[in-house]
Amino acid sequence: MGLWTRIASMVAMMLAIHRASSEPWTTASTGKIDLHSHYVPEFWREESIKAGYGEPDGIPGIPAWSEEAHLEFMSQANITKSILSITSPGTHLTPGNNTHARRLTRQCNEFAADLKRRRPEEFGFWAALPLPDVEGSLAELAYALDHLDADGVAVFTNAHGVYLGDESLTPLFKELDRRRVTVFVHPTSPCIRGAHDHGLQPASPLAEFYPNPMFEYFFESARAVTNLFLSGTTDTFPNITYIISHAGGALPPIIERFTQFASSILGLPLEINSDSVKAAFARSFYFDLAGFVFPDQIYGLLRYVGARSIVYGSDYPYTPAPGVLAIAGMINEHIDEAFPDPRDVQGIFARNARRILDRV
Ligand SMILES: *[C@@H]1O[C@H](CO)[C@@H](O)[C@H](O)[C@H]1NC(C)=O
Ligand SMILES: *[C@@H]1O[C@H](CO)[C@@H](O)[C@H](O)[C@H]1NC(C)=O
Ligand SMILES: *[C@@H]1O[C@H](CO)[C@@H](O)[C@H](O)[C@H]1NC(C)=O
Repeated sequence: MGLWTRIASMVAMMLAIHRASSEPWTTASTGKIDLHSHYVPEFWREESIKAGYGEPDGIPGIPAWSEEAHLEFMSQANITKSILSITSPGTHLTPGNNTHARRLTRQCNEFAADLKRRRPEEFGFWAALPLPDVEGSLAELAYALDHLDADGVAVFTNAHGVYLGDESLTPLFKELDRRRVTVFVHPTSPCIRGAHDHGLQPASPLAEFYPNPMFEYFFESARAVTNLFLSGTTDTFPNITYIISHAGGALPPIIERFTQFASSILGLPLEINSDSVKAAFARSFYFDLAGFVFPDQIYGLLRYVGARSIVYGSDYPYTPAPGVLAIAGMINEHIDEAFPDPRDVQGIFARNARRILDRV
């Protein structure tokens, strides 16, 4: 925990310096809905550590978490409702062991469903799926939606090297589309499928020096969403709603490039250009504010989407409470500059999320 506290106070200090130089906080800091926050049940922590994920994606450890601490954090951060999910590495911990993954996934989803049942005002959840096990994921999807009242599902950019948009996932996406499911897309460590059975190769060239959440996560989000478009998934299954973490990561600046390549160089049989991506975003995509989206990162995304597509996310407890509060200060300070209409700001903090959760 020492390291987490240090990271938190570092972030707080950095932002305090930043804040001291500008206007006091303004409007609309109350009543947020947080679509990007995590629960860390003890059994999942133990299984993760046992499977070799004690320092997931290169971060110093799995943070402490409890229901009480989460509620306390919410009241400090003016969050009225949190939609919880299991974060990286997810619930499929051992390549090839679907039995174990199905059991752990179910256990996590039951845990989250219990939180939601007991505190329906405060908690909701994105159900975990045991990907890349598609059959297991279809069964869990039905169970989570029909019996556990999940608000949608959480998937990772890749599952043991199977990226969103992969052909093997088509039966799952077909079902997500049929049921009009909300899919929360969270980054994980990059991975390449090996030539052998379950031979997987981590693919973070600088992982020795830098934890993957530092920047590989952003490349992952860009890679996965690009593949959702280029594989035709977004066209074929238009009724899925996506929430992309961290304001899309590194996606916005490559949109023009991958769409141009698709038609003029690869000649893919797709009607794709930056306008069609904008249309798909407006129809079915949301982007959350987790991380350091203000003061600068947001502007690249805003060339492609409007305020209606932005939602709030804290990333608690992987961003510890003091870090979230410091970032909230930064958001409060800069959001009016990016979104001068206070109704847009209210939409970002709550109304857009409400629309997703009410499935309208
Ligand atoms: C929470 O709301 C109060 C009252 O509006 C405000 O003073 C405070 O700055 C807000 N805190 C955060 C983290 O937004
Ligand atoms: C899968 O994991 C379970 C629980 O850890 C273990 O008992 C079982 O032997 C594993 N199966 C395979 C095929 O590795
Ligand atoms: C999916 O969306 C299309 C276009 O909006 C619509 O025509 C179709 O009925 C929808 N399908 C389902 C299953 O809701």
